[in-house]
Amino acid sequence: MTSPAIHVIAKQGDITTEEVDVIVNAANPGLLGGGGVDGAIHAAGGPAILAECRQRKRELPGGQLPRGQAVATTAGRLLARWVVHTAGPVWSPDDDRTEVLTSCYRESLRVAGDLGARSIAFPAISAGVYGWPMDDAARIAVSSVRAAPPGPVREVRFVLFGPEALQVFQRAMG
Ligand code: APR
Repeated sequence: MTSPAIHVIAKQGDITTEEVDVIVNAANPGLLGGGGVDGAIHAAGGPAILAECRQRKRELPGGQLPRGQAVATTAGRLLARWVVHTAGPVWSPDDDRTEVLTSCYRESLRVAGDLGARSIAFPAISAGVYGWPMDDAARIAVSSVRAAPPGPVREVRFVLFGPEALQVFQRAMG
């Protein structure tokens, strides 16, 4: 059950326009950008984000962000204060990677909380290029946030790119 203090909403929109303390990026282990949310965040936030991604990369063993883990950078020109980059699992019909996707939400909340963030916006991690079925991605996202240990974060927004994804998340929120 969500600690009473956390307010969770789902909305449709472009996550790069959210006015929150932390915007979460659906990144990849290489941390050097990509398409989807990753491409949009770097395009809107500007080169300062990539510069700090390179710094985080240098601090990581093997220069790779393990899937399920999260690191923070500046948000550059975005309205947020920080971007938390997490690398989601790639969907596999043969291998249950639920725990890795759960970890993306839990670790992003932990990193955001350590920064003192009060509000955070998540995309539907792994539900795009990484192929995770949206209904299951939404179920995991909502349950992960609700199960997260209490911290400074008081507001969680799931920001969905289309009306279908929004409906799926609203159903998952019950
Ligand atoms: N705002 C909100 N949601 C968005 C936006 C946006 N600007 N752009 C895309 N989305 C949605 C997608 O429609 C999808 O539902 O975010 C969800 C996640 O999709 P991806 O961005 O493809 O992320 P993911 O499936 O986790 O794949 C990550 O893709 O872009 C590359 O570098 C990235 O290798 C990494 C992989």
